[in-house]
Amino acid sequence: MTLWSGRFSRPMSQALWELSESFSFDHVLYAHDIMGSRAHVRGLARGGLLSDDEARELDRVLVVIEGEFAAGTFVRHDQDEDVHMAIERRATELAGAVGARLHTARSRNDQVATTLRLFTRDALSTLGNEVLDLVDALVDLGDRYEGAYLPGYTHLQRAQPVLLAHHLNAHAWALLRDVDRLADARVRLNVSPLGAGALAGTSLAIDPAATASWLGFRESFANSMDAVSDRDFVAETLSIVALLGVHLSRMGEELVLWTSAEFGFASLGDDFTTGSSMLPHKKNSDVAELARGKSGRMVGNLVGLLTALKGLPLSYNRDLQEDKEPLFDSLVQASLVVSAVAGAYRSLTFHAAVAERAANDELLGAIDIAERLVADGMPFRRAHDLVGRAVGDAVAQDIPLSEVVAATEQLAPYGDVFESGYALSSRRSPGGAGPAALGAQRARLDAERARARTAMVPITPVLPSV
Ligand code: ARG
Repeated sequence: MTLWSGRFSRPMSQALWELSESFSFDHVLYAHDIMGSRAHVRGLARGGLLSDDEARELDRVLVVIEGEFAAGTFVRHDQDEDVHMAIERRATELAGAVGARLHTARSRNDQVATTLRLFTRDALSTLGNEVLDLVDALVDLGDRYEGAYLPGYTHLQRAQPVLLAHHLNAHAWALLRDVDRLADARVRLNVSPLGAGALAGTSLAIDPAATASWLGFRESFANSMDAVSDRDFVAETLSIVALLGVHLSRMGEELVLWTSAEFGFASLGDDFTTGSSMLPHKKNSDVAELARGKSGRMVGNLVGLLTALKGLPLSYNRDLQEDKEPLFDSLVQASLVVSAVAGAYRSLTFHAAVAERAANDELLGAIDIAERLVADGMPFRRAHDLVGRAVGDAVAQDIPLSEVVAATEQLAPYGDVFESGYALSSRRSPGGAGPAALGAQRARLDAERARARTAMVPITPVLPSV
């Protein structure tokens, strides 16, 4: 018998039970569900719907149940459809008759929405801080190889030399935008649905604003139907995680390239690489490939949820139960990838000599000659053409560009661009890839990292005494 079986004369079929039960995955919500119930109990007492003794007793058993879950001793009963029913059933077992008052002026519809918001609120700050740890790993790697540089690419063709720190910071900025989005989503989701009931509120004396403030929400819902049907916060979270996954995937792809013999720019530590079951010599960058591969399911989870939501009439529909597995999966996978990729960067050895040899390719100095001609008054298009011809000659004759430049009257005065490090140090415009601009970028990066850490401090409920 389920807790709602009053109007039914036959029990639920096994097939429907297996389809609809959600305890098998939503049990991870227990702590947040219990927190919501403890606030609800206080609200019922304030409204005179529970005596102080009853409220104290319910609060006590809720704490006991939380302990059972935490210790792994909570026993699920056959009829426990979801985590909410399981906790209410156990509260009634432990508290006796007063347990039957716990669900007063509440529906699982506002309950699950409240629980899931509290859960997601914590998950966003946990993930945000993990992403910030990854940003730290990138910045630390740049510091460890101060002054090292490599070719910067467009179209995966060598373009211009860039400092390693500048290159790594490019990823850091993308990740900081992800954290900014997580923080922003957390502000938006931090509205309490508790008190919306099934969809229309209740005739009983409740104070949704009070429960909202105890739970650390910014405010309480304005519209009960929106409160129980809104899963925008899940869609936003999945969207942010999907984009984070895309960023991690691009970093993974780059690590695969860098650690290949063809590039040879980097090696990962033995603790962040794997061997081959057949080929004794192999050392594989699986961590980077998994970062790339996992992004697929993160995108899939977003698309799955949006598809589940798109046809739903107001307000609560059981389809909404399908919000949880994609949410949990994306959060778990993102956390795994972020932590492992941070470790991989921390284990990374950068082969600066190899990368710098590639970056010292004379062709990468072509733009520097053109810019020197411009600085001396030549229109850029003409300078581009002139240098382009010199490059064409060098390639056609298979000789170094510096030889052609030395032999070309108009270009000969600029041969010093081929001196080691010139092409890098000349990139001094703000935000550019050379050492002169790095300090200002770093100051901005550090300010943003500090701001993001503050924005991701967990929000903790503060319950009044019962
Ligand atoms: N397990 C359900 C869910 O996740 C809880 C809400 C059930 N509400 C209902 N009216 N059947 O959505």
